Amino acid sequence: MTAWVRLELDLAAFDETPFLPCLDAATAAGVALTTMARLGDDAPRRRRLEALWARCAADDPGADLSAGVPERCRAASYDPDGAVVAVEGEHWVGLSVTSLRPLEGYAFGEMTGVVPERRGRGLAVAMKLEAVRWARSRGHTRLRTFHHPDNAAAIGLNLRLGATAPSP
Ligand SMILES: CC(C)(COP(=O)(O)OP(=O)(O)OC[C@H]1O[C@@H](n2cnc3c(N)ncnc32)[C@H](O)[C@@H]1OP(=O)(O)O)[C@@H](O)C(=O)NCCC(=O)NCCS
Repeated sequence: MTAWVRLELDLAAFDETPFLPCLDAATAAGVALTTMARLGDDAPRRRRLEALWARCAADDPGADLSAGVPERCRAASYDPDGAVVAVEGEHWVGLSVTSLRPLEGYAFGEMTGVVPERRGRGLAVAMKLEAVRWARSRGHTRLRTFHHPDNAAAIGLNLRLGATAPSP
């Protein structure tokens, strides 16, 4: 049985200052961070988000693509304000989709992904900062994720931001 790695970022204590250079780097590289809400969350753009999600998830050892990305984008918890998209010219090069789970008491990172050719430049951190700001603006103090134990990049990303194992 897979021992999923569960992580939680304390949004009340989180200090974004050390990570702000990643936002500047994205801007300097010509990458704009926006949201599905701002882009226009219509059917063609939703399909584009789903395609980007599926492309990035292909490198996630924990992704069950048979379960269907479209279902996750159409779930009741999907919020276009919480769906960050990194746009470079005509290309969508990253996404970070967060949902709010008030009954459980936390925001949840559904998926963060960067296209392979744009990885390793701080883009995932930049998108997560936007996700953190959004979750905080909605009153959440915890942001959870879970990962396949072989997904070193995703685990490393969240540890880098300061996430720790949640208390039971
Ligand atoms: C995880 C992912 C989004 C990271 O995107 P990225 O833009 O390359 O990440 P960043 O450049 O912002 O890296 C931020 C930090 O993450 C960690 N990290 C990134 N790639 C890593 C790797 N291959 N191994 C270990 N840690 C890694 C590092 O701590 C890094 O900080 P550093 O550069 O100061 O060391 C990207 O690898 C990806 O799209 N993977 C496939 C999709 C996926 O698995 N998503 C998670 C689903 S739960």
